[in-house]
Amino acid sequence: MRILFIGDVYGKLGRQMVADYLPKLKNHYRPTVTIINGENAAHGKGITKKIYSSFMEAGADMVTMGNHTWDNKEIFEFIDDAKRLVRPANFPDGTPGDGMKFLQINQLQAAVINLQGRTFLPAIDDPFRTADRLIEEARKTTPIIFVDFHAETTSEKLAMGWYLDGRVSAVVGTHTHVPTADERILPKGTAYLTDVGMTGPYDGILGVQRDAVIKRFLTHLPVRFESETGRTQLGCAVIDVNDKTGKAVKIERKLINDDHPFYG
Ligand SMILES: [Fe+2]
Repeated sequence: MRILFIGDVYGKLGRQMVADYLPKLKNHYRPTVTIINGENAAHGKGITKKIYSSFMEAGADMVTMGNHTWDNKEIFEFIDDAKRLVRPANFPDGTPGDGMKFLQINQLQAAVINLQGRTFLPAIDDPFRTADRLIEEARKTTPIIFVDFHAETTSEKLAMGWYLDGRVSAVVGTHTHVPTADERILPKGTAYLTDVGMTGPYDGILGVQRDAVIKRFLTHLPVRFESETGRTQLGCAVIDVNDKTGKAVKIERKLINDDHPFYG
């Protein structure tokens, strides 16, 4: 099985990059499954039903979320019906939605798990012990398990990668929007990448208008964060997994922008 994972789609420019490049990426890599992190897809905060549907129409099989899951209130209207959307599994009990879902592709099944870190993020349930519980459940169905770990610090992400090594097919990080160059296969067969990088404005600061962010650092006055305009980028990873064992055999990271063009 080949998994294509596209990192944090940010606002209109991010959605445009998905529309422009997902067909090209699919044509080039021929993924079995395509997963998109969509927690920043609506103006940088949350997701709407229309955007979720547009990702499905563009060829995504699953959308993962993160700390901005509830920031667009529309989510409450459609999350219960969104069969292909997962929000962090370690949100407190009673939270709408699910943190793990299965995909059926011909004879194969894959579990997609979304987790959120706790370092410099809200103090929600333990993502490590939540992972233990979900992996045990998933492995009754399939050894192919993909984890999007939405977290702030490199150390918490690395800890999760090593903690889950050999028990899941891949642990790929999201949230920081800045890609890291540490893609690897851990010794027991888990593909790992600290952060896949964002999809959206290339010349902003994490997607936000850079002038506003700089002003905030200079003055500490409240500023309004809008999406940056202009050039764009897309961050993604392609992971090959052995269908029988669920172990990863290859991970490739890709950043597409003016400095790293994609010719397909
Ligand atoms: Fe985030």
